[in-house]
Amino acid sequence: MIEAIPLTLNGKPVRLEADGERPLLWVLRTDLGLTGAKHGCGVGLCGACTVLVDDAAARSCQLRLKDVRGKRVVTIEGLAGPDGTLHPLQKAFVEHDAMQCGFCTPGMILTALAFLKKNPKPTREAVLRGLDDNICRCGAHTRIVQAVLDAAPRMAGGNR
Ligand code: FES
Ligand code: FES
Repeated sequence: MIEAIPLTLNGKPVRLEADGERPLLWVLRTDLGLTGAKHGCGVGLCGACTVLVDDAAARSCQLRLKDVRGKRVVTIEGLAGPDGTLHPLQKAFVEHDAMQCGFCTPGMILTALAFLKKNPKPTREAVLRGLDDNICRCGAHTRIVQAVLDAAPRMAGGNR
């Protein structure tokens, strides 16, 4: 059933006219052209589709649009500042060359952001555990973990 579903998307209030049963990942990618969230496994196992929902990392392939009614959704497209300034996590990923194909990168960064908000001074082991459920098929994990560790103090426990 098509309905108007209000939510905040990347900081802006929106009302999406769509079937509430539609997977959030396809609403983002196909309906809205926000292709940062990737379709990897489609069954909640890889983390490539991760977005933030009310500051928590969530797998958009496993959410229906109606699940985010009234919530704050952030995709990788919403992370840079209005002037295009990269988020500290994005900068750290670039500086550490923490990607190869980049397919896992949006999900890694948003998972790391949710993790760092709860763990502002993590150990390397904690970062490893925090990102354990996100798969990088290129094997960039070592550089990804280093990027997250470097970004943590730059964020000072906040978004930036
Ligand atoms: S595509 Fe959603 S977890 Fe893999
Ligand atoms: S950089 Fe290719 S999947 Fe992670």
